[in-house]
Amino acid sequence: MCGIIGYRGDKDSKRIVIEGLKSLEYRGYDSWGIATVLNDRVAVFKKVGKIGGFSADQLKMEAGRIAIGHTRWATHGNVTEANAHPHVSCDGKIAVVHNGIIENYQELKAELKDHKFVSQTDTEIIPHLIEGYVREGYGFVEATKRALSRLEGRFAVVAVMAGYDGLIGARRGSPLVLGLGGGEREYFIASDIPAFLNHTRNVVFLEDNELVVLNKDYRIMNIKTGEDIKREPQHIDWDAAQAEKGDYPHFMIKEVLEQRDTVSRAIKQSDGEIMEVAKMLNDSFGSFFVACGTAGKVALAGTYLFSRIANKHVNFSVSSEFPNYTHFLTDKTLMIVVSQSGETADTLEAMDAARAKGVKIVGVVNVMGSTITRQADRFLLVKAGPEKCVASTKATTGQLAIVTLLAYACAGRLEEGRELLEDASAKINAILTEEYVANIRALAEKIKGWESMYIIGRGLNYPMALEAAIKVQEVSYIHAEGFAGGELKHGPIALISNGTPCIVLVANDETKPDILSNAVEVKARGGFIIGVAPKNNEVFDFWIPVPDVGNASPIVNIIPVQILAYHLAVLRGCNPDMPRNLAKSVTVK
Ligand code: M6R
Repeated sequence: MCGIIGYRGDKDSKRIVIEGLKSLEYRGYDSWGIATVLNDRVAVFKKVGKIGGFSADQLKMEAGRIAIGHTRWATHGNVTEANAHPHVSCDGKIAVVHNGIIENYQELKAELKDHKFVSQTDTEIIPHLIEGYVREGYGFVEATKRALSRLEGRFAVVAVMAGYDGLIGARRGSPLVLGLGGGEREYFIASDIPAFLNHTRNVVFLEDNELVVLNKDYRIMNIKTGEDIKREPQHIDWDAAQAEKGDYPHFMIKEVLEQRDTVSRAIKQSDGEIMEVAKMLNDSFGSFFVACGTAGKVALAGTYLFSRIANKHVNFSVSSEFPNYTHFLTDKTLMIVVSQSGETADTLEAMDAARAKGVKIVGVVNVMGSTITRQADRFLLVKAGPEKCVASTKATTGQLAIVTLLAYACAGRLEEGRELLEDASAKINAILTEEYVANIRALAEKIKGWESMYIIGRGLNYPMALEAAIKVQEVSYIHAEGFAGGELKHGPIALISNGTPCIVLVANDETKPDILSNAVEVKARGGFIIGVAPKNNEVFDFWIPVPDVGNASPIVNIIPVQILAYHLAVLRGCNPDMPRNLAKSVTVK
């Protein structure tokens, strides 16, 4: 959570940081702040709320070549200006932005008796610790290195000091990427690439326990040992326009509609690579799909897909519960982690637990260069491009496509899987018309006043019922719950009253008769039945047609619900891109 950015160069540093913060806001948006570095002091400006339409011209602060900024998702301390970053030392000369959690901040604070703290945050300890070492006579770099090596927990940090013509960045557990600018000695450093994608696509990813000094050159070193580390830059082929809203009112609808080609992009994996992962799966025993939230629903769908297509049993666990299963792990276990960001703390911890048992790890990840892509033994890139809306949409269907393809590859039917998914992709492209979206918007108008709704599915579409509920909850704040169709009669059906919306996800497979019977049961209790199905049925009060695509049905069935969730959010006056209390990359436990 939280987005950080730093800039050093000859351009307008304030503007670059403010623009960068806007593109990082999906990581946290309860308050924000900026610090500019002058010769004798660091100037700081902070504000509660979203950065929104704020422009650099409104900032009446002096600026030099260096600035840092932060957009916050509160962990320690309320949402106040005092708790917003950057945080500064007693003399106001050192400023720090931070993403992560410092677990031992209370002990460290107790040591720093002669320092004055003004916030409730864990972060504030960092500029004071650095200041302490500077007072002892260490230079800024050494002081920062010493301070950081005392921290326990996860962090990505950028620090600046008045009169110092450079930035220091460091990470352990939270992401930080360096951008090499076009201008001489121009550097960017941020939580994520889109923060500087308009300026450069040449990047260097920092690894855990590394510190980088950006001044005349960039120098990476190990925080603890100070040993120099050489790392060549990589070129990222993301298009800056992909990270912009363009003419769309929100990223969410832009990203939903980009699903016209995300499935075909996702399956552009080389046969060799897919087959190697398939071999790892086929050679494994007692393997696990592991992920959180929406990615977790993809992972759960993976267990159904593998059982159905490859006749292979794979276990599933949400990442935060995975450490409870470690006694089942052996060196024959394979762990498949699914993640959009590749930075989710719960998933990274699950990977640590697995690695400790000798488990091999395969990642299905959207963000190139993310921690999961670096820590997994192998990874398959989802290739959906930057996903900015907090609610995951295009990355989800891309992940589903890869997991489906893998199941076919394990069954020795890779070509059949590709053909199925190409066909699904073409059919998705064909249905995503203005008229289709308008029809779903009309449905949203009808049901927007309801405070609860239910979604049911069976087999491959049970995980999608759970995912559909997440989509509706997180953007429209309607209480939505997903169930396996067969479970309703064991309790939840008591919640159905006259008019309660119930979405029924139907696939043209052996589950169809039973899920339609479940729909009839709900209707008999007064439920308003919204059928997402290849064919209309008399039980539906409202039908959303989807193509009949066999085992790719989870992909096509979730898309109309994403559109519905989007319109419910907008019609209820919610901002679908930045739902309350949430952040895009969940980098805290
Ligand atoms: O980046 P990840 O895919 O690992 O994130 C996992 C979840 O936090 C994420 O899917 C979350 O549930 C989404 N906001 C849902 O739309």
